[in-house]
Amino acid sequence: MRENPLVLHVLGARPNFVKAAPVVRALGELGVRQGIIHTGQHYDALMSDVFFADLGLPEPVANLAVGSGTHARQTAALLVGLEDVFLAQEPDLVVVYGDVNSTLAAILVAAKLGIRTAHVEAGLRSFDRGMPEEVNRVVTDALADLLFVTSPEALAYLASEGVPPAKVHLVGNPMIDSLFAALPALDPAPVVARLGLPSRYAVATLHRPANVDTAEAARELVEAVLEVSRRTPVVVPVHPRGKARLAEAGLVDGETIKVIEPLGYVDFLSLVRGAALVVTDSGGVQEETTMLGVPCLTLRPNTERPITITHGTNRLVTPALLPAAAEKALADGAATPAGELPVMWDGKAGPRIATVIAAWLKGDNLAPASQAKRPE
Ligand code: UD1
Ligand code: UDP
Repeated sequence: MRENPLVLHVLGARPNFVKAAPVVRALGELGVRQGIIHTGQHYDALMSDVFFADLGLPEPVANLAVGSGTHARQTAALLVGLEDVFLAQEPDLVVVYGDVNSTLAAILVAAKLGIRTAHVEAGLRSFDRGMPEEVNRVVTDALADLLFVTSPEALAYLASEGVPPAKVHLVGNPMIDSLFAALPALDPAPVVARLGLPSRYAVATLHRPANVDTAEAARELVEAVLEVSRRTPVVVPVHPRGKARLAEAGLVDGETIKVIEPLGYVDFLSLVRGAALVVTDSGGVQEETTMLGVPCLTLRPNTERPITITHGTNRLVTPALLPAAAEKALADGAATPAGELPVMWDGKAGPRIATVIAAWLKGDNLAPASQAKRPE
């Protein structure tokens, strides 16, 4: 390894910023040389800039401005842009986060250039290859040299896919580190006042392609959310992906429903903290509600985060069952987590990851890049 090795973090989409902030901070404290490459997959100020400010992330050293497109077009732009950056910057380690297209592209480019890689949030599986994220997860984990796992069941999944256990580290959840760091700033009152909400309200977020990409799915979903709003006002910070389709399906501002722009990180979590109920299809929000003890109804047939059901406040629901499930959750009041909180979701995942990376960068006995094991 070179003297003073360089670590590059590749970030592109809203949840990436939340997961990376604690890792960047902890590596900085260890004096590791590092930089952020922003791919520009998310580019609206409310999907990107606000997170750098709220999370105290340093300015990116490069922004590839890849923007939006079909999977092939966006991924192709990411591959080309990232190859140029990696060739110019010569990183010793590329760190990728979660399961977005920027994650997939970065691991692929690094693997082909022989650059070592680390994947934060490895091993999550919905076992639903119809989700674009599941494809990204499987490919990313097959190529990563270091795999950081947030949840114990991921260890078995990775082992069953032939990932050598020596590459895998259970470290806890850096998204929860960010939540812990923000806790003192999370005050529902100003956001609730600004939005003119009553003290009891629900929050909904929807952006999964299966929910918002067809008129039929959007209509079913919107009808269910409107039904919930007749009992308790609902505020919906709308992800740009579903904005037009959800509006066409009838999700518009009304007496009991507030349809707003995406919120910044601190405002959003403040709102969630004060909510009586969250309805979502987000991965990260399932985890955050578990930690905040807010009941969460997830509009999906499956989740790659089952620990939020077994150890948290999450339940999967269909649109048809949402109104009744919401009524029950609201009647039951503050959610009691289903079990003990997930192991190592304690705000210290970032320092654990940084310690492993720093030791790994110093090591003189590193395994060859993405060493694969021949089946017995
Ligand atoms: C992406 C991730 C998804 C993640 C989500 C987090 C992939 C395949 N999907 O989905 O896993 O849960 O981010 O939010 O990587 N758009 C804007 N402004 C922006 C960004 C997007 O208007 O700043 C609109 C564009 O119309 C774009 C659409 O949203 O076509 C989808 O954006 P894209 O990044 O392709 O996927 P997401 O649905 O955001
Ligand atoms: N989030 C936010 N503002 C919003 C909606 C979500 O700050 O209006 C945060 C949320 O707290 C979590 C992250 O964005 O930290 C989750 O991102 P998203 O739901 O877009 O992606 P997913 O987790 O589903 O990949």
